[in-house]
Amino acid sequence: MSTAAKTRSRAVKAPKVTDQPLFIDGKFVDSASDRTFPATNPATGEAICQVAEADATDVNLAVQAARQALEKGPWKTMDAADRGRLLYKLADLVEKNAEELAVLEALNSGKIITDARGDLQGVVNTFRYYAGWADKIEGRTVPVRGNFLSYTLRQPVGVVGQIIPWNFPLLMLAWKWGPALACGNTVVMKLAEQTPITGMRLAELALEAGFPAGVINVLNGYGETTGAAIVAHPGVDKIAFTGHYETAKVIQKAAADTLKRVTFELGGKSPNVVFADADLDQAVQGAFHAIYFHGGQCCTAGSRLFVEEPARKEFVQRLAEKTKERRLGDPLDESTQQGPQVSQEQMDKILGYVQMGQKQGARLVAGGKRHGDKGYFVEPTIFDGVKDDMAIARDEIFGPVVSVLPFKSVDDVIERANNTHYGLAAAVWTKDIDKAHCFAREVRAGTVWVNCYHVVDTTTPFGGFKMSGQGRENGEAALDHYTEVKTVTVKLS
Ligand code: NAI
Ligand code: MG
Repeated sequence: MSTAAKTRSRAVKAPKVTDQPLFIDGKFVDSASDRTFPATNPATGEAICQVAEADATDVNLAVQAARQALEKGPWKTMDAADRGRLLYKLADLVEKNAEELAVLEALNSGKIITDARGDLQGVVNTFRYYAGWADKIEGRTVPVRGNFLSYTLRQPVGVVGQIIPWNFPLLMLAWKWGPALACGNTVVMKLAEQTPITGMRLAELALEAGFPAGVINVLNGYGETTGAAIVAHPGVDKIAFTGHYETAKVIQKAAADTLKRVTFELGGKSPNVVFADADLDQAVQGAFHAIYFHGGQCCTAGSRLFVEEPARKEFVQRLAEKTKERRLGDPLDESTQQGPQVSQEQMDKILGYVQMGQKQGARLVAGGKRHGDKGYFVEPTIFDGVKDDMAIARDEIFGPVVSVLPFKSVDDVIERANNTHYGLAAAVWTKDIDKAHCFAREVRAGTVWVNCYHVVDTTTPFGGFKMSGQGRENGEAALDHYTEVKTVTVKLS
């Protein structure tokens, strides 16, 4: 591991960040309780600013504002094309302020600045994509029996509670605001407690773009309090959540009391399968990116690396060589390749899994330790000789830790790839189109990559089979989850 990044000077200056309010009914306000909590820089462990903490009272105000905007305000009667124009305007404002937003995102999430810039492009793309949809969400005329005219209307679900995580703060916000607003819903969003800053800046840009008061409300606070209050509120029609499946279970049970709609995106333990006939240069590079992108804090991380036996030894050796070159350091330094994990809690969880892996008999080939003694850095880590039933092969570690699992045949690897309660993503590396397409058909996952990894575009549906989720985000598919279908039947004379 190179520590050279420590001696380099920053290319990007850290901004001064003021304390963060809540955004309710088009205004920035303190929380009703006046309570605050700190936002932290994970590269140093130091506080960046204080953040207003919402409780049930603030949630109630936000839901009331969102309901008012849904039922009474200009949003209700606005032409669909004008909703699209507002989204285009927001995209333009994000684009104009992209560098400032990327720096803030890197500062608070630990994401390296070059990745943060990529995320910002994704945000702009997402808003533009859904802006285009706003006036293309159509019903149908239906040929019913008898002398009737039946047609369907697609109307907003209503007030949508959106609860997002810390790994892609702005991108997750865009994936949720885009389709919700294009379909005419109003939003009460809770940002992750680890990353409470950039979403507030987006609220400011939404105000500047001209979204009417109450259409978008943004809160900060903890899951068990603020998040739970959104889920429990009878004035919220739907919850869209991204995070851990254990949290989703709690949310689904709580949502049952009011029979809210729920959509979930819940991470994975994605199989990345390398056949011996693959282009090994590309596959090594791909496997590296699959697990270490954003320090493994990625729902689609390629954390189960199946390598066909004849190629395994060389493959692992080459992967280990590359990890030694990886530069860990300041996320605001443009030469840094891996930043810190988001929090002490996440770092401790990851290091706990490394210990468990060693105890259960896997062979540590690279990494395995905390990097430095400041901030929450973890070395890129490789385990070889991993057995399918070890904890490091079953649980989502959400860090830079890959488990290498040898395999011998297509059937064997498909069965083992599917032997998990997760089903978010999978990838296959081979030059044999038959193997590639068989694998793509048989693997139980919402996204399959062939000879590539982490290629996610706002235009294609994204979500999980099994316990990796319910519903789909992105693409046209997301619109189904933000509209109710109404049938209107007219008796003709
Ligand atoms: P989490 O699922 O607890 O938190 C995600 C969001 O849900 C946050 O905004 C949080 O405040 C909120 N939340 C938590 N409990 C809630 C509740 N009872 N009601 C309503 N909202 C609630 O995830 P956490 O604790 O940040 O990370 C733990 C693990 O979850 C990670 O190690 C990783 O394995 C997984 N995760 C997966 C993500 C993904 O992209 N699918 C993103 C973040 C975490
Ligand atoms: Mg949690």
